[in-house]
Amino acid sequence: MTCAGPSPRRGAAQAVVTPVAGGLVASREGRIVFVGPVPAFESGVQAAPGAVVLDAARGTVIPGFVDPHTHVVYAGDRREELRRRLAGASYAEIASTGGGIVSTVRETREASEDALVESARRRLAEMLRCGTTTAEAKSGYGLETEAELKMLRAIRRLAADQPIDLVPTFLGAHEIPVEFRERRQAYLDLLVDEMIPAVVAGGLAEWCDVFCETGVYTPEESRLILEAGARGGLRPRIHADELAASGGSDVASAVGARSADHLLFVTPESANRMAASGVVATLLPAAAFYLKFGRFAPARMLIERGVAVALATDLNPGGGFTPSMPFVMTLACFAMGMTLEEALVGATLNAAYAIGRDTEVGSLEPGKLMDAVVVDGEVVDLIRVGAPAIRHVVKRGRVVASA
Ligand code: NIG
Ligand code: FE
Repeated sequence: MTCAGPSPRRGAAQAVVTPVAGGLVASREGRIVFVGPVPAFESGVQAAPGAVVLDAARGTVIPGFVDPHTHVVYAGDRREELRRRLAGASYAEIASTGGGIVSTVRETREASEDALVESARRRLAEMLRCGTTTAEAKSGYGLETEAELKMLRAIRRLAADQPIDLVPTFLGAHEIPVEFRERRQAYLDLLVDEMIPAVVAGGLAEWCDVFCETGVYTPEESRLILEAGARGGLRPRIHADELAASGGSDVASAVGARSADHLLFVTPESANRMAASGVVATLLPAAAFYLKFGRFAPARMLIERGVAVALATDLNPGGGFTPSMPFVMTLACFAMGMTLEEALVGATLNAAYAIGRDTEVGSLEPGKLMDAVVVDGEVVDLIRVGAPAIRHVVKRGRVVASA
C-alpha cells in the first residue's frame, strides 16, 4: 500500500491507499527512486552492488507511520493517576487534587535536559518498534521560559541522534501555571513577550500550539497566542473541543491552523468551517480511551463534511499511554467507525500533511524518504492488537527495527 497521490486526502479520497500488487520499492541514499511492479523494476533499474534487499514475501509494505501529536518529552510518570481513574476518579477530580498536567510540570522543571533526553529516547525507541518513523513533539511541561526552552532543546538533540525524525512544537500555553492562576494576564504577556520571541530566536520550534478548553485557554486568548506565534513564523495548531464544544476548532478555522486536535465535541457547523479553511482534524482516540471519556471524536461526520482526518497517539504521561499507531488505527476502526483504508491514510499521508511533512514522508513515492513498515501479512494484521505484525521498520533506507 503506497498511499501515493495528492494530500491531504478528504472525503471519499480518505480511503485511497493506492495498492501495488507484487510491488517493489527501491531507494538510494535514503530516498525512494522506484515504486512499482517487479518486472518494471527489472527492465528499468539496476540494483547497486551490495544493496540491502528486504524480502516482503507474503507481507505488505506500507509507509512508515507519522505520529503528528505527541508529548513524548516529560519527566516522572502518572501511573498512580491511572490507578485512580480505573477506580472511578474523573479527569477533573484528578486535576483538582494536584494531578494532571501540573504534576508533570513540577517534575519536568526539576529534571535536567540530559534526563529529559534519556527518558524520551526510550519512549521514541518504543514508537519506532511500532512503526513510527516521523513524529511531532511538543514542549508544554515547563511553563516558564527556561524550562520550555530546555524541553525544546531536548527535542532538538533527540532529532539529531535517534532514527525518528522529529517536528518541534512550542506549547507554552498547555496550562496556566499554578503560580499565575490569580493573574493569568501576566502569563499571557510572558508567553507573547518573552517565551515566543525566545523560541523563535533559538530556532527551536516550527509550530505553536494552545490547549483551548474551558478552564484552560479561552478562544480569544488562544487566538492571540497563535497570532503572536505566527508573527514569529511559528505555524498554528491547536488542542480543540476535547472536553466540551469550547470553540477551539473555530479558532483553528479563523487563524488558518493546519490542524485542530482531539475534537470529541466538534459540532457539524464547526466541521464545515474547518473544511472550508482546510484545517485537518487530528484525532487521538487512544487519549479518549485511556482517559475513559466514554466517547470518541465524530470521525465519520468530519469525513462526510470534507475534513481530512489524521490520527495520532497523543503520547503523554496522563492519557497518552500507547506508543502504537497500529493501536490508534484499531481504535479509529472500532471506536470511530473508520475503515481500515481511511485509518491507514490517517496514520500516514494525512498525518504527514498535519505537520507539514507531506512532501517528504507519508507515502511511498519517488523523491520521498525511504521510510516504511514491512507488515507480516496484510494491513488488517496491524489491528490484531498484541500480535507481532511488524516484521521490519525502515528509516531513510536503513532497517532500524526488526521482529
Ligand atoms: O493532549 N489535552 C491536553 N494535553 C494532553 C494531556 C497532557 C497530560 O495530561 O499531561 C493531551 O491530551
Ligand atoms: Fe496533547
